[in-house]
Amino acid sequence: MIHERRIRPAISAELPETLDPQLRSREVTAMTGPLVLPPSLPQSGVRQLLRYSFWPIEFLEDCAARLGETFSIELAGLGTFVQLTRPDDIRDVFKADETTLHAGEVNVLLSSVVGTSSVLVLDEKPHVRQRKAMLPPLKGERMRTFFDAMRSETLAIADQWTGAGVVRADKAMQSITLRVIIRASLGLESGPEFDVMQSAMAKLLAHVRHPLALVMWKLFPLARFENSKILPFFRMRRKFDTILNACFDRQRALPEEQRPECLLKDLLATQYDDGSRMSNHELRDAIVTVLAAGHDTTALALAWAFELILPRADVVAKIVEELDSVTDGHLPSLEDIEKLPYLDAVIRESLRVRNVIPMVARLVKKEISVGGFSYPKDIVLCPSIHLLHMRGDLYPEPKLFRPERFLERKFAPYEWIPFGGGNRACLGQAFAIYEMKVVLATLFSTLRLERRDGAVSRPVRRGVSIGPSDGSLLRVIERRPTKS
Ligand code: HEM
Repeated sequence: MIHERRIRPAISAELPETLDPQLRSREVTAMTGPLVLPPSLPQSGVRQLLRYSFWPIEFLEDCAARLGETFSIELAGLGTFVQLTRPDDIRDVFKADETTLHAGEVNVLLSSVVGTSSVLVLDEKPHVRQRKAMLPPLKGERMRTFFDAMRSETLAIADQWTGAGVVRADKAMQSITLRVIIRASLGLESGPEFDVMQSAMAKLLAHVRHPLALVMWKLFPLARFENSKILPFFRMRRKFDTILNACFDRQRALPEEQRPECLLKDLLATQYDDGSRMSNHELRDAIVTVLAAGHDTTALALAWAFELILPRADVVAKIVEELDSVTDGHLPSLEDIEKLPYLDAVIRESLRVRNVIPMVARLVKKEISVGGFSYPKDIVLCPSIHLLHMRGDLYPEPKLFRPERFLERKFAPYEWIPFGGGNRACLGQAFAIYEMKVVLATLFSTLRLERRDGAVSRPVRRGVSIGPSDGSLLRVIERRPTKS
């Protein structure tokens, strides 16, 4: 975060001719000389913060329309965030090494929930060490072992939805993704311990969903109240940690071959390069990180997918046609999930059009040149996921939901970035896409759904994520018969 600017001159970037010349670039008088930063709106930091908190997408689009491809936003109390929307600039940021740009420092407010040894809040060597330990369990064959959990939790929702009329997609998707991620990370099956864990995690996460969560954490840093016996957040966190530690101890006591197949089993077996094993503290933070990062994001991405798919009869027809041709009217199996290229394109296109996280952030630690500007220490550079995805030169008619784009062309890792990129790219990308595929394939095989008449989903902030204001309201028309 930037609090003051001790900055040297830099080269101003070219901006479109149509822009107001007064907004072209900002020369700021700083302690060591003038600084030229990309332009920002002539609005106070408080106003920009409120706009970004309550109307995030409209605010970013308004800035881009008035300020051009590269601009700054000022968020009161949080700092200056330079928005990058050109693929080449984003590539340069993602390619920079861990000592030049830090992401963990920007995320440090999250440590009250995810802990101080979470991969999300670390940088440089400690980050590389945790990342290396966590990646293998979240991809490939291991990920596919969670197919049954994903499908059975989705079928439970299909049963609840049958005959229910109008339903909110986001709540149901949250239930699926939370239950799946608890099963996948701890190997717990339904029962009293599972229920306590589910309710504790849901309550813990409720604290981070407020539109102003990050601002409130900045104003009232939770770490200062860490030992509070009164604040419900800390009471809940302690209860949650006690359950987790009991789970770790129980599984650690079992011979390896008797431990349930889950992320915890892999982490218990992980050996760092120096031969040491993960401590309970590191295990706790790794598991909570996965529970927190992998649950709401995927649920909101699914809620948005329904919002985009259901009003389009042509897209629904193609999804169902592809499913029927692969499954022959049965429930989709593990093998079937690999054979659904159109559904895969639908998911990629919905993650492009409705991004769950509008930008990622990197704090400059060593001077770096990007797109004609030279950024000194303490500036925050933000590859803008939303504005990159709305570029007409990459995605003609960018607001149009057209899954075929992803069948016609392969996009570079800095052209399609719902999961960020570089050495901080989302560790759960493969897991999330796989889970979305299993959930959508199962629901479209078992139910006929439509969008509720007149429903409107405005993008609203839920902590760091963006979700649909109405929760994405659907109407369940009828059950589709499936062969046994
Ligand atoms: C559709 C669902 C998801 C979206 C849109 C999403 C998006 C993101 C984004 C944008 C980042 C930051 C990347 C960057 O800074 O460049 C991130 C980081 C991360 N995500 Fe996800 N994510 C999703 C699902 C998941 C899942 C399912 C998991 C775990 C099972 C997960 C675990 C993580 C972790 C651990 C990080 C931190 C990586 C690091 O700092 O090295 N995410 N995610």
